[in-house]
Amino acid sequence: MKTTLLILSLALTATVPATGQVARKSDSGSCAACHAGLDAKNRAIVRGYEKDVHFERGLLCSDCHGGDPAVKDEDAMDPAKGFVGTPEWSKIPEFCARCHSNPAYMRHFNPLGNVDQLEKYRTSRHGILLAKGDKKVAVCTSCHGVHGTLAVDNPNSPVYRQNIPQTCNRCHGDAAYMAPYRIPTDQYGKYARSVHGVALLEKHTKGAPACNDCHGNHGAVPPGVNDIEAVCVICHSINGELYDQSPHRDAFKAAGFKQCAQCHDHHLVFHPTDAMLGVGEGATCVECHSPGEAGYVAAARMRQFLDSLEIRQTQAKSLLDSARVLDMDVADGEALVEAIRQNLIEARTATHAFSDKHLAEVGSKGLVAAQKADSLARAAIFEHKFRRLGFGVATLIITGTALLLFLKIRQIERRKRKPPAR
Ligand code: HEC
Ligand code: HEC
Ligand code: HEC
Ligand code: HEC
Ligand code: HEC
Ligand code: HEC
Ligand code: HEC
Ligand code: HEC
Ligand code: HEC
Repeated sequence: MKTTLLILSLALTATVPATGQVARKSDSGSCAACHAGLDAKNRAIVRGYEKDVHFERGLLCSDCHGGDPAVKDEDAMDPAKGFVGTPEWSKIPEFCARCHSNPAYMRHFNPLGNVDQLEKYRTSRHGILLAKGDKKVAVCTSCHGVHGTLAVDNPNSPVYRQNIPQTCNRCHGDAAYMAPYRIPTDQYGKYARSVHGVALLEKHTKGAPACNDCHGNHGAVPPGVNDIEAVCVICHSINGELYDQSPHRDAFKAAGFKQCAQCHDHHLVFHPTDAMLGVGEGATCVECHSPGEAGYVAAARMRQFLDSLEIRQTQAKSLLDSARVLDMDVADGEALVEAIRQNLIEARTATHAFSDKHLAEVGSKGLVAAQKADSLARAAIFEHKFRRLGFGVATLIITGTALLLFLKIRQIERRKRKPPAR
């Protein structure tokens, strides 16, 4: 029986123009074999499926759509044979989850794979609105495609890290499409200009966040005001620890301020500079603190402290440069300058305790290193001067001795030439 089927299906395959691997792959793939010969649309479906991750894993059309692939005419699509056909748009998540939420089934293919996609999806804004009959939100196929679904780590997948922002932007950046919802449509535009977007999209930095790192793969919701910090500290844990000890944690919560995003924004995150700190123009602190307040005073002191550490670093560097020009060995000084540089990085993170005392404590290491570097450079320069002085004195003594010697020799010679006395 099986052999007959094989021959039949091979014969079928041979009669269908431009059949692909799908039809050839199985001895029972009547679905692909017939569909490849129907029309351009169906041929595209079969062709697309040849690149599909499900095809790679050996699944057939009937594994998703049901029916009997052993029957070679249209009876293959008999509902009595389990044919379910094309899922309604709103039923796609359940259609996919029949396998993806079935741990026993999925374990055969990948024992460690996630089986929580539907569960998470239902908690997402997309899932909640879909359940209410919304037809514009994303379903599984909006992000993963269909008949050509790729493994998520395939660089051509729409959910490959670098491609995710564009995949989300297809809907979220389309003002006409999103009009009924009255939410901003500038997420991609802002993100692409941010440190995060530039790092991921232009510099290909590992670890830079795409949309899903902050919103989740399947549970997309905007983080609530009080959950924004939790999103940022996935990667910026030290800033988070300091912020949690700071006077801002409770004060921001009480006032409904957006934690990290209050000062850094959420999509338009820029590289922060010292200008953000203090009481000058461009400082975030003065948006909330007025002269005379404890916060204002602390902001001014913190900025002053960072400025002085920066100046000490420049001074130490230029003194060491002067010594180096004189050919003095100042390798130890270079290590100290590096220590100051590291300390400045630490100090800029330490600003998140929003306490001038804490900052001074952290920065004291840098000041000590600057002091040491200064002394080292000054000592080298002094040593160089001393050596030069020593050399001068020695030359003077040698020249003097030579002169005396010369005079002495001349005197002896003159005496020799005098005629003897009569
Ligand atoms: C991983 C599951 C899966 C597999 C495997 C699969 N399909 Fe589909 N198919 C779907 C989904 C989901 C839809 C509905 C897509 C939509 O509504 O956008 C669909 C839709 C269709 C449609 C209707 C298209 C339309 O525009 O009306 C046809 C025909 C079809 N599939 C044929 C096939 C054939 C033939 C194969 C094998 C070569 C196949 N499918 C393999 C999931 C699958
Ligand atoms: C002998 C040819 C033939 C075979 C075999 C065949 N189909 Fe079809 N199928 C068709 C035709 C014709 C249509 C209707 C054309 C259309 O709607 O594009 C169709 C429609 C479909 C549709 C979309 C319409 C719907 O009811 O949802 C799906 C999905 C589908 N087939 C899947 C399958 C699967 C799965 C198998 C194998 C179990 C299969 N077909 C076997 C010819 C075939
Ligand atoms: C809003 C877009 C979006 C929707 C909707 C979506 N996914 Fe995903 N999916 C992703 C992203 C992003 C990833 C993760 C890619 C990565 O790991 O880098 C992913 C990963 C996956 C993976 C790989 C395993 C994992 O969980 O990381 C599977 C399987 C998957 N999705 C299935 C589904 C299914 C089934 C549905 C529908 C219930 C669905 N997805 C809905 C975007 C989406
Ligand atoms: C008949 C069962 C079945 C159905 C239905 C099904 N899948 Fe899958 N899917 C699998 C299997 C098996 C794998 C391979 C898992 C692996 O090797 O990690 C897979 C893999 C995937 C992957 C790649 C995951 C990765 O880790 O790279 C994605 C994405 C995916 N499926 C999405 C979908 C979507 C979207 C649908 C619905 C349109 C769907 N699947 C329907 C069985 C199914
Ligand atoms: C098929 C179109 C589509 C795609 C693709 C899509 N979304 Fe959505 N998304 C929507 C629609 C429509 C809404 C509903 C708007 C609302 O919440 O009122 C929405 C809602 C959201 C919300 C909630 C917004 C709010 O304030 O209520 C977030 C967050 C979100 N999407 C993130 C994402 C991310 C991240 C991706 C990519 C991984 C993505 N979306 C892909 C259509 C899409
Ligand atoms: C660094 C984390 C981060 C990244 C990356 C990120 N978001 Fe957001 N997103 C947030 C936060 C936090 C909020 C909530 C801000 C608020 O409550 O005001 C938000 C809000 C949203 C909203 C609700 C409407 C709005 O604009 O406030 C949508 C939609 C959204 N993001 C989509 C996206 C898309 C699409 C991408 C990728 C292009 C993306 N996000 C990248 C953190 C991020
Ligand atoms: C998935 C990890 C990840 C998440 C989540 C994340 N970031 Fe980042 N962030 C990075 C990486 C990586 C960089 C460095 C980018 C580069 O190389 O320029 C960065 C850079 C930054 C910078 C600039 C640092 C500098 O010295 O230029 C700021 C500010 C920042 N992030 C704030 C945030 C905020 C606020 C959030 C939450 C809304 C957040 N990040 C969420 C990974 C993350
Ligand atoms: C979005 C508003 C906001 C911004 C921006 C802000 N603060 Fe605050 N800050 C507060 C609130 C509210 C409190 C608690 C009430 C108070 O004591 O003023 C506070 C308290 C403080 C305190 C504790 C004051 C005390 O009473 O002991 C310090 C120190 C401080 N902030 C420093 C800063 C610094 C430095 C900056 C700039 C990097 C800054 N703040 C930016 C709102 C803000
Ligand atoms: C009250 C305003 C404020 C809040 C709230 C805030 N920051 Fe900052 N952040 C700053 C300032 C000011 C700087 C610049 C310090 C400098 O360079 O002198 C900065 C610098 C940074 C940097 C770059 C320096 C470094 O540490 O690598 C990162 C990353 C960062 N912040 C992340 C965060 C995260 C994550 C949160 C939430 C846990 C947060 N910030 C909360 C004001 C703030």
